[in-house]
Amino acid sequence: MLENLSPQPADKILALMAAYRADPRDDKVDLGVGVYKDATGNTPVMRAVKEAERRILADQSTKAYTGLAGDPAFGAAMRDLVLGDSVAADRVAAVATPGGTGAIRQALELIKMAAPDATVWLSNPTWPNHPSIIKYLGMKMAEYRYFDNETRGIDYTGLIADLDQVQPGDVVLLHGCCHNPTGANLRADQMAEIIALMQKKGAVPFVDIAYQGFGDGLDADAQITRQIAAAFDNCLIAASCSKNFGIYRERTGVLMAIAKDPEQQALSQQTLQFLNRQNYSFPPDHGARVVTTILTDPVLRADWEAELEETRNGMLALRQQLADELRRLTNSDRFDFLAHHRGMFSRLGTTPQMVEKIRAEHGIYMVGDSRMNIAGLNENTVPILAKAIVAAGV
Ligand code: LMR
Repeated sequence: MLENLSPQPADKILALMAAYRADPRDDKVDLGVGVYKDATGNTPVMRAVKEAERRILADQSTKAYTGLAGDPAFGAAMRDLVLGDSVAADRVAAVATPGGTGAIRQALELIKMAAPDATVWLSNPTWPNHPSIIKYLGMKMAEYRYFDNETRGIDYTGLIADLDQVQPGDVVLLHGCCHNPTGANLRADQMAEIIALMQKKGAVPFVDIAYQGFGDGLDADAQITRQIAAAFDNCLIAASCSKNFGIYRERTGVLMAIAKDPEQQALSQQTLQFLNRQNYSFPPDHGARVVTTILTDPVLRADWEAELEETRNGMLALRQQLADELRRLTNSDRFDFLAHHRGMFSRLGTTPQMVEKIRAEHGIYMVGDSRMNIAGLNENTVPILAKAIVAAGV
């Protein structure tokens, strides 16, 4: 049987992680995988997470199964964090999932069940695992233009023209904030126009929000998701806790399905639980319990929010430093977009050849599409990157 297997395509982000580890250079710089790092290159366990884990260790009296949706308190806490009061709680079905990827996978399985002929529309570019999973599930997909390689902003005209082609019942996947891989984000007024267009077309929105709190703040980053949730009878939202709680390896995420009314919510909840049962039965609990402990305790929550703000402001400072350094070196403002982008990533907008040149000559690792993880920098490596960008002739 196993002789029939053929090698599967490598994920380019994970392949880059391996290449970085194998590079013997002491001064190498990792701007690859989307993991937050502090100025010393460490990915810290957040203070509130440590304290929540201490409490769980002390107080937890059983490891018996939770439920197919995970602990309902987790679903409720995440619903409040992501959706605020944009939609009535009795319209939201929610299940815990193994990370944001688990939520995306379950959402796609749900779409496949409910609308097998729907095309899923993805931004060009998007996180490479989106098309990979869709293809694996044998679903239909299409792309809408998103990034303008000249301005390094949004190709808004192209985006609207492409979404005008959406058919009734098609699904449009949008990044809730901090677009991965570009760092270029839609404004609220643009989103209002896109919502009106999607409504006219009869499209169903699917929001992937994996970086809430990394862009403009917890509430600001949820704005697009809330606008969408408030505007449609149905939408799907996949949220990750990996980045904003720094619990990457705990695999903590949530899938929410917003239904038209409580009756449809009950059916959606039952279906989501069925899908969990088919794929892994009960979702992982530890990370979800940590998140719930933090979000429901005012002191822990305030400390988590404060540390997340420090993280966010640190990334903004690095963006500004890089933009300033490139302004100085090039005597132009053509890299100012780096300060305007938001979230963990910025797409430099250069060729794979240039990316390779920067890697070979300077030991600086970015993804081949020129996505840089800003959090991989520190005050000392920003000038090194700026010089490398200029030397490569970007
Ligand atoms: C990334 O885009 O680098 C992260 O979301 C990690 C991953 O799983 O690809």
